[in-house]
Amino acid sequence: TRKVTTHRFIEMKQRGEKISMLTSYDFTTASIVDGAGIDGILIGDSASNVMAGNGTTLPITIDQMIYHAKSVVRGVSRALVVCDMPFGSYQVDRKEGIKNAIRIMKESGCDALKLEGGAEIIDTIKGILDAGIPVMGHLGLTPQSINKFGTYAVRAKDDAEANKLLSDAKLLSEAGCFALVLEKVPSVLATEVSKEIHIPTIGIGAGNGTDGQILVVDDMLGKTKGFNPRFLRRYADLNSIMTDAIGQYITDVKDCSFPNENESY
Ligand code: KIV
Ligand code: NA
Repeated sequence: TRKVTTHRFIEMKQRGEKISMLTSYDFTTASIVDGAGIDGILIGDSASNVMAGNGTTLPITIDQMIYHAKSVVRGVSRALVVCDMPFGSYQVDRKEGIKNAIRIMKESGCDALKLEGGAEIIDTIKGILDAGIPVMGHLGLTPQSINKFGTYAVRAKDDAEANKLLSDAKLLSEAGCFALVLEKVPSVLATEVSKEIHIPTIGIGAGNGTDGQILVVDDMLGKTKGFNPRFLRRYADLNSIMTDAIGQYITDVKDCSFPNENESY
């Protein structure tokens, strides 16, 4: 089980082999996801929603991202590990972005970083790449800009936004990013972008024409409830499984059937 590299991601695109990715935020989950054979694991800033219960990704801090990333890195032996740079850690200027990128790499031990945006942050991305850090781009519905968008609806439905997305994708690819996440954009556009650039596109709500797919692990396992976009396929109903198991435990405690003699010293 050779460790997956950013180079391997690009080879997979060239070979036409689809890339599988999921998020993880903790050691135990990352061990399971990696053991199942996933190609890449993202420590998403969706940890803000899924782990901390915030309404958006904005409040999560660099320290909190490093805590999650370190935990994930300890559980992974094969997958490529990518960590989100959180809101505020790279938008101020190039220098601060590079400093924070280096800090996250050093302290977490992850393999690469992901930043949201195109032309607006291209100088910062180039500086991070120049420091020797692999960067994954992220275009389309970029949740750190939710307050600007004002809606979680599909992005780039009109020509102006679609053209900007395509030119941003080319910019990121030419700058040397190793992959690009496309979130919640029309399938036709995501397919076109995937054909136009040489680095792999990883889609979420972007249809079947991207070079890979990513989902939030708690969503696809059915642990979370009440988040039901059409792109989300639930592969398990962990919410019910956990609720039933916990209910059984409560019953056993109440009626004194747990612990039994074999479970006692
Ligand atoms: O934070 C996250 O989980 C993400 C993926 C959904 C792409 O950025
Ligand atoms: Na994210």
